[in-house]
Amino acid sequence: MSNFNFSMDFYKGKKVLITGHTGFKGTWMCRMLIGAGAVVTGYALEAGNNGIDADHSGKENLFKLADVENNMTSVIGDIRDLKHLQEVFDQAQPEIVIHMAAQPIVRDSYTNPVYTYETNVMGTVNVLECVRNTKSVKSFVNITTDKVYLNKEWSWGYRENEELNGYDPYSNSKSCSELVTSSFLSSFFNPEDEDSRKCAISTARAGNVIGGGDFANDRIIPDCIRSMERKEEIIVRNPYSTRPYQFVLEPVYCYLLIAAAQFYDIKYAGSYNVGPDDCDCLTTGSLVDLFCSKWNEFYNEDGYQKATWKNVSDKGPHEAGFLKLDCSKIKATFGWNPHWHIDKAMEKIVEWTDCYFNKGDIAALMDKQIKEFI
Ligand SMILES: NC(=O)c1ccc[n+]([C@@H]2O[C@H](COP(=O)([O-])OP(=O)(O)OC[C@H]3O[C@@H](n4cnc5c(N)ncnc54)[C@H](O)[C@@H]3O)[C@@H](O)[C@H]2O)c1
Repeated sequence: MSNFNFSMDFYKGKKVLITGHTGFKGTWMCRMLIGAGAVVTGYALEAGNNGIDADHSGKENLFKLADVENNMTSVIGDIRDLKHLQEVFDQAQPEIVIHMAAQPIVRDSYTNPVYTYETNVMGTVNVLECVRNTKSVKSFVNITTDKVYLNKEWSWGYRENEELNGYDPYSNSKSCSELVTSSFLSSFFNPEDEDSRKCAISTARAGNVIGGGDFANDRIIPDCIRSMERKEEIIVRNPYSTRPYQFVLEPVYCYLLIAAAQFYDIKYAGSYNVGPDDCDCLTTGSLVDLFCSKWNEFYNEDGYQKATWKNVSDKGPHEAGFLKLDCSKIKATFGWNPHWHIDKAMEKIVEWTDCYFNKGDIAALMDKQIKEFI
C-alpha cells in the first residue's frame, strides 16, 4: 500500500496543464484544481465544439456555466497543431500534464474515423512530444478508457495487463493512444536509462462517467435530461448492454491522485483501471430505471414531466454488450475505493439538473458537490 497520503492540498501552487479542459471531465477537473489553488492552463477546442458538428455556436456547455475561465489560462487550440501546442507548453512550463482532449463518442467515430484517429492518436503523439521537449514536466497522465481492451464479452473484469484492441474506431484509437504512450515511455522516459528524461508516465482507463453538466450527444444521462426538458419519454437504444458507471468526480479524483503520487515517487507510474464496484456495473436499462425513480422522487409535484422510458433499438453500429473493469490494482496501490455509489451519483445529477433548469449558481453547486465528495 502507498505511503503517499494524497490530499488536494498537494496541488496548491502547482503548475498543471490539462488538454480537453473545456469538456465535461475537464471542467470538473478545472473546478477542483482551481479550488485547491493550482495554476491551471488548459488547451482544447472552444467549449461546445466537438470538432465534428459544423455549427456549435448555440450549444450549451458546462465550461461556460462553471465559471472557470477567469481563474485559469484557457487556450483554444487544436491538439493536432503541434507548433501551437508547444508554444503553450513553453509559456506555461507545467510540472504536471493531464491529457484528456479526445473525440470520445463511439457513434461519431463510426461516421468520422479519420478525425477520431487524428485527434486521439496523433493528438497523443503531439502531447507526448511536448512533454519530451519541456523539461519542467515531471508527471504525465494519459486518460484513455475501459474500451481499450479486446472485448471478449467476459463476465469478469479486464485487468491492466490484458490485450489492448478496441473494436470500433473510438475504442481502437484509444488502444493506439496507449501504445503510443508505451513507446514514448520506453524510448524517451525509460527510468532504467540514465540519459532519458526523468518524467513519470501513466495511463488511466476509466469506466462510463455520469454527472451533472454533460451535454454530449449520444450518452445516456444527457439523453434522459434532454427528454425531460422536451417533456418526452426517454428513448433507450441498448437497454441490455452492461457498463461500469461511475460519478464524474471518481475518475477525476483518481487522475489527480495518480498524477500527484508519481510526481512524489516515480514508482507509482503505470497503467490503472479506474472503475466502480461490481454493484455499479449496470445494464443501461437499470441505469435509466434509477434515473426515473430519482427524478420522479424529486419532481413529485404536478406540472413536471414524469420520467418513463421505452426500448427503441435503432440497429446502430456494433457496441460492446458487456464491459467490466478489475480495479484491484489502484485499490491495492493507493487504498482507494469509490466514494459514491450509483444511487448517490444519480441524486447529485438530479440536484445539478434542478439548479440548471432554475438558472441557479452552477459554480457554487459544483463546489458544494466537490466538497461533499472529498
Ligand atoms: N465521459 C466518459 O464516459 C468517458 C469514459 C472513459 C474515458 N473518457 C475519456 O475522458 C476524456 C474526457 O472525456 P469527456 O467526457 O470530458 O469528453 P468531452 O467531449 O466532454 O470533452 C472532450 C474535450 O476534448 C477536446 N477536444 C476534442 N477534440 C479536440 C481537438 N482536435 N483538439 C483539441 N481539443 C479537442 C474538447 O474541446 C473537449 O475539451 C476523453 O479522453 C475520453 O475519451 C470519457
